[in-house]
Amino acid sequence: FDAVDIIRTKRDRQVLSTEQIDWVIDAYTRGVVAEEQMSALAMAIFLNGMNQDEISTWTQAMINSGETMDFSSLSRPTADKHSTGGVGDKITLPLAPLVASYGVAVPQLSGRGLGHTGGTLDKLEAIPGWRANLSNEEIMHQLETVGAVICAAGSGLAPADKKLYALRDITSTVEAIPLIASSIMSKKIAEGTGSLVLDVKVGSGAFMKDIDQARELAETMVRIGKNAGTATVALLTDMSVPLGRKIGNGLEVEESVEVLAGGGPADVVELTVALAREMLLAAGVDVDPAENLANGKAMDCWRDMIRAQDGDPDAPMPAAKHTETVVAETDGVVSEMDALKVGVASWRLGAGRARKEDPVQAGAGITIHAHLGEQVKAGEPILTLHTDDDYRFERAREALEGGITISTVAPTRESVLLDRIG
Ligand code: URA
Repeated sequence: FDAVDIIRTKRDRQVLSTEQIDWVIDAYTRGVVAEEQMSALAMAIFLNGMNQDEISTWTQAMINSGETMDFSSLSRPTADKHSTGGVGDKITLPLAPLVASYGVAVPQLSGRGLGHTGGTLDKLEAIPGWRANLSNEEIMHQLETVGAVICAAGSGLAPADKKLYALRDITSTVEAIPLIASSIMSKKIAEGTGSLVLDVKVGSGAFMKDIDQARELAETMVRIGKNAGTATVALLTDMSVPLGRKIGNGLEVEESVEVLAGGGPADVVELTVALAREMLLAAGVDVDPAENLANGKAMDCWRDMIRAQDGDPDAPMPAAKHTETVVAETDGVVSEMDALKVGVASWRLGAGRARKEDPVQAGAGITIHAHLGEQVKAGEPILTLHTDDDYRFERAREALEGGITISTVAPTRESVLLDRIG
């Protein structure tokens, strides 16, 4: 095979054969296909698309580029969740122990935040002592004993995707549905979960801004999962406003613990329970997952999970050195709280990073006092901003400009759940 022929095939809107895809992914991983050739191919795919067979083949080739995990020796079924990312999306934290409390193993191999969306590992690292890096043996042991593991994905899973994602990032080829879908699914299938529930976010704070795009992404991923033999369903959920009242690393751990204690904001609880229900059903367990939030069993599992990774579940979250409040200018009801603007503000306060190697602040972020649909009076606090560096307040306020609207009509938002595909 020849990279130039393969690029020409897709440039001319032809279908790539299985042999062509297998060869190009393998050769790219080995450094035989040059970065500039893969850039051209990624752009050709971006512009001309791939059919479902090409997408499934492409995904399988990326899985074959590295190691896969195998949980078939566990005594429990496995179920995993993936979110396409949002603002205040801490759902993995209460969800993994909740599902595990019903005897289903949850291998949640996670990443770090980049840009305005937070990363699960960054959040858990706010807990003193907690360790993100586990060996494969430790992962297996913890799945058998505790049932839930949230840890860093090893570099051996889908190395082709690691290279390709970095390349897409600098060639403006990230936002192509075939490439996003194969990127996400290659890592999840290589991880070896028995079933997978996808939380595909829709709205300003998400990758997909409108529901039609999100539905197409969800349908593509569900088909990839089914073709690979992994039972997959997707929920489309609202990301036009932040999830819950706390955004930032330690702040999101605090809110997750509120949910595990049977409280917490209604939207976070609704989504946690809905995703748990899907994961449990996929694993053959038909229960109302709200029960183990109410009776403390999910909390027990959380504490065991944190301790197993050397964290202290009783330690208070680190507080930021400085806080500032944003107050309402008029009386009324909060009719808009833009997820992207709030996410960018939290990022600028130090909760996220500008470059991969930057540190994040455990205490930085935003607490929301008056959320969508809630009443405020002029002068009352809407948000509190938290950071260790007080020069960051100005940048956060700039990011928030125009993001919060107070008016006389209350918006309606009955549910964060928009659709189910599976
Ligand atoms: N997340 C991924 O892992 N890959 C993408 O392409 C987009 C989001």
